[in-house]
Order: sequence, then C-alpha cells, then structure tokens
Amino acid sequence: MEFELFITPLLFLMLFLFSIFLLFRGKKYPDRLPPGSLGLPVIGQSLDLLKALKADKVDKWFLKGITKHGPIWKASLFGYPTVVVHGPTANKFIYTYDGNILTSTQPPSISRIMGPKNLFELAGHDHKRVRAALASFLKLEVLKQYATKVDQEIQHHLQTHWHGKHEVQVQPLIKTLTFNVICSLLFGIEKGTKRDKLLPHFQHMMEGLLAIPINLPFTQFSRGIIARSKLVPMLIDLICEKREALEEQKQEANPHKDLITSLLGIGNDDGSTNLSDEEIIDNIILVMIAGYDTTSILLTFLVRLLATNESIYTTIICEQEEIAKSKAPGEALTWEDLTKMKYTWRVASEMLRINSPVSLSFRRAMQDIEYGGFIIPKGWQVLLSQSMTHMNNDIFQDPTVFDPTRFEKHAPQPPPFSFVPFGAGPRMCPGIELAKMETLAMMHRLVTQLTWELVKKDESFKRNPMPEFDQGLLVRIKSNIYAI
Ligand code: HEM
Ligand SMILES: *[C@@H]1O[C@H](CO)[C@@H](O)[C@H](O)[C@H]1NC(C)=O
Ligand SMILES: *[C@@H]1O[C@H](CO)[C@@H](O)[C@H](O)[C@H]1NC(C)=O
Repeated sequence: MEFELFITPLLFLMLFLFSIFLLFRGKKYPDRLPPGSLGLPVIGQSLDLLKALKADKVDKWFLKGITKHGPIWKASLFGYPTVVVHGPTANKFIYTYDGNILTSTQPPSISRIMGPKNLFELAGHDHKRVRAALASFLKLEVLKQYATKVDQEIQHHLQTHWHGKHEVQVQPLIKTLTFNVICSLLFGIEKGTKRDKLLPHFQHMMEGLLAIPINLPFTQFSRGIIARSKLVPMLIDLICEKREALEEQKQEANPHKDLITSLLGIGNDDGSTNLSDEEIIDNIILVMIAGYDTTSILLTFLVRLLATNESIYTTIICEQEEIAKSKAPGEALTWEDLTKMKYTWRVASEMLRINSPVSLSFRRAMQDIEYGGFIIPKGWQVLLSQSMTHMNNDIFQDPTVFDPTRFEKHAPQPPPFSFVPFGAGPRMCPGIELAKMETLAMMHRLVTQLTWELVKKDESFKRNPMPEFDQGLLVRIKSNIYAI
C-alpha cells in the first residue's frame, strides 16, 4: 500500500511525459489528423466526458463534438490522445480491424485494476488461446446443462431478498443475484460467507475502472487498486484448492465443472488452452467485471419497463404463464423452457438497443492507421460510441420509441454492424448465452411470482461508468405466491 503511494506519482509523471511524446508523434502528419483539440495531457477532456457519463448525457457530448468538428475528431481522454468515432462503418472498423494493430488495450486505470493478462489486454495468439479457454465453458452446448442451476439460484434469491418485503432496491439486489450466479456457475463458489466477502471488492474495482488514474488515498482509483490487492490472494487460494481437489480425483474430473476448473486445463486432452495462474486470475476478474454488472443493468431496466408499460407487461406475462402452466409448481426451468421465451427476448433486445450497458469501447493503435481519410498515429487511442448507432434515425426509425417488433423474425434486419450491444467480430462478447439465460429465467420468476410498481415515477440514473439508479430503482412489491 505504501509502495503504491510512492510509485504512483512517478507513474503519473511518466504517463504525462509519454502523453506529450505521443502528441509530438502526431505532429508528423500535421494535415492528416482529425480536427479537435487535445487539451491538457493526461486529464484532457476526461473530466468533461466523466461528467457527461454521470448525467447520462454521453450522446450529447458526442453530438457537441460532431457539430463542432465533424464525424471524426480528436480529444485527450484518460491519459491518451484519442480519435473519437461512431456509426456502422466505425463499428466495423473497430470490431474487425487486425487486432494486433488496433488492440483493445484499455486506458491505464482499467488495465491496472483488471490486471495485465486480462483478455482485453491480449492480442493475437494469446488472445485466441485465453478466449478459447473461456469460450469452452461459456458456449451454449456446455451452458445449457446449467439452466436449472441458474434457476435455482434465482429462486433462492427471490425467497431470501424479495418475498415478504414491501419495498426493495432492484438494482443492488439484482447485482447480488448476477454476482452469485457467476460465483456459483463459473467459480464454483456456492452460497455462504466466502461469496458475501467477495462482492464489495468487485464493486470497488468497478468504480475505479474509469476513474482518473491518480492513486492518492480516498480516490476511487486507489480504492479499486486496494480492492484488487485484497482479492488476488483470495483467488490464489481458490485456484490452489481446486487444483488439489482435481489432482486427487483426476479420473472422474469433469473439465466443465466450473470455469476455473476448466481453465486449469487438467483433464483436457490437449494442453492447447493451458493458462498460467496469472492469466487465470486476471481473467476471473475480467469475467466477473464484464459479466455481473452488465446483466444486472439489463434486468434492472426491464423491471422498470414492466412497471411503466402495461401492454408489454401483459404480453410478457402471457408468454411466461403459458410456460409456467406446463410445469409442476416449483419445478426448475430447463433450457427448452428458455427457448420458448421469444417475445421476452425481443423486449430485452430492444432494451439493449436503447440502454446498452456497454455504450463506449476503447482501442489503441499499435501502428499508424488510416481511417476515414485521417491518420490515427501509433500509440493513440480510439473511442467508439455504440449508442450513437443505436439511436440513429436512419437505421432505427423513431429511435427513442421502445418497439420490440423491430426484432421480430420477419422484420427488416438492421444493416450489418448497426446493432452491437455485444460488440462484434473476434472480440464479441463470449457471455451472451449466459446473459440471455439469466435474463430470461429471472424475468420468468419475477413476473410469475411478484407484482411491482415504481416508488418514484422518474427515478433517474447516472453512468458510473455503468448506469446506476439514484435510489437503486426503488419498487413496492407484492408476492403472488405464498407457498414454496
Ligand atoms: C447483457 C449483458 C452483457 C453485455 C451487454 C455485454 C457486452 C459486451 C461487449 C459490448 C463486449 C465487447 C467490448 C469491446 O469489443 O470493446 C463484451 C466483451 C466481453 N464480455 Fe460481455 N456483455 C454482457 C455479459 C457478459 C457476461 C455474462 C460475461 C461472462 C460470463 C461477459 C464476458 C465478456 C468478456 C470476457 C468479454 C471480452 C471478450 C474479448 O475481449 O475477447 N459478458 N461484452
Ligand atoms: C497443460 O496442463 C496439464 C495439467 O497441468 C499438463 O499435464 C500438460 O502437460 C499441459 N500442457 C501443455 C501443452 O503445457
Ligand atoms: C408500450 O410499448 C408499446 C410497444 O412498444 C408502445 O407501442 C407503447 O407506446 C408503450 N406505452 C407506453 C405508455 O410507453
């Protein structure tokens, strides 16, 4: 901790000098850089963007830049000169350009908290290898068999935290749920005190992710770093436990028992996806951060929607009651049940369009790259807004209208790279199927077991960087069932 405090002003200074160095490199192409100004090195316009995030006005921040400079412009963000882009062409460029040249290296605050070996920081062969190891557990054929387990977590969660209450804060509760699902399914940590001790660390890390990287006491960034330093030894213990357990019972080891076990590679026939302990740790942290907040945000927005839109609520409850009727009371949901929730998923998709949990993505240029007639110099960052595409009137007519029919089977398909809540290409979110499974199972249990109304009709939220409701989305609830 003291070491951290000592080292970081130095790091900050280096970043400052590096940033100036990058600016000079840009001077090689005086006429070919995008318009815009870079402001102060390191801090630059970061505070402005963070303010827009907090007020959920990022699209306004983008529009201001576009009006002033055109569709592509430059700014200085989170320590780096940055080219800011949006639109389907930009999406395609970001998601499909050679990942060794346009890497997904994150701003220093993010990589410092998630660790140097997390998937975002890896490129080329290393990215392929680690991603394959994650995907071998997250793919549909494997996940399918866990639908019942997810449902049991949900039922336990509702019994513990919802039934018998008059008012609940939806967002923090659902965060606990998605956190617990990942703990149990991916890390094999079942309910108990161990699990409860982990959650606050992840929350602090989350808050530090997009903080200004100044590691002084009490900054969000330093809290994030401290949380990481407390978490890592816990994860090392967990890996040791699992490795020992596996070595004792090698014969009957099931490589798909949980994600960590499958990452340990024991029981895999070929060692092609073997990961080092460091890689396992950084990617456990990544999966947790990438997985629990995103899904809980989608669910929270859906709970709010159902409280405000009668017609959507009625259609969803129809679909879900139909499925409930085919089951015995208390019988767990299976994968087949989830595949019948087609309307519910269209509503979720429309929610992902309008309120994408991930609304910005960063990349870094490892060489000078030409894009849209401009040069992105080596070392610069690129910032993409997905939501600018999702809210484009030429692609989604009346973009502010919530309309799930956009996702009907026979509706006109949006053009390629214009609906990207999960990204696209080789770095597309590998957690889609898990997110879908959790969302559908939770919606089923919620609408069949509870009714709710918003306590405050227009409770607002800020992005921190993820949307966060001011009072956690406070709702009054009533149970429909009394016996389980
Ligand atoms: C509604 C829920 C979710 C949304 C909207 C979402 C969105 C995204 C997006 C947009 C990306 C790509 C970022 C980029 O290219 O810059 C991504 C990557 C990723 N997501 Fe998700 N995600 C969700 C749930 C999950 C879950 C449940 C998991 C894990 C179990 C997960 C794990 C990951 C990982 C590991 C990556 C990095 C992939 C790579 O770099 O190759 N996500 N996610
Ligand atoms: C992968 O790990 C397993 C178990 O730790 C080991 O037996 C195997 O030799 C490793 N393979 C490679 C290619 O490193
Ligand atoms: C509810 O959703 C439907 C279907 O998208 C839409 O037509 C209607 O205008 C919405 N109602 C309200 C009150 O927002």
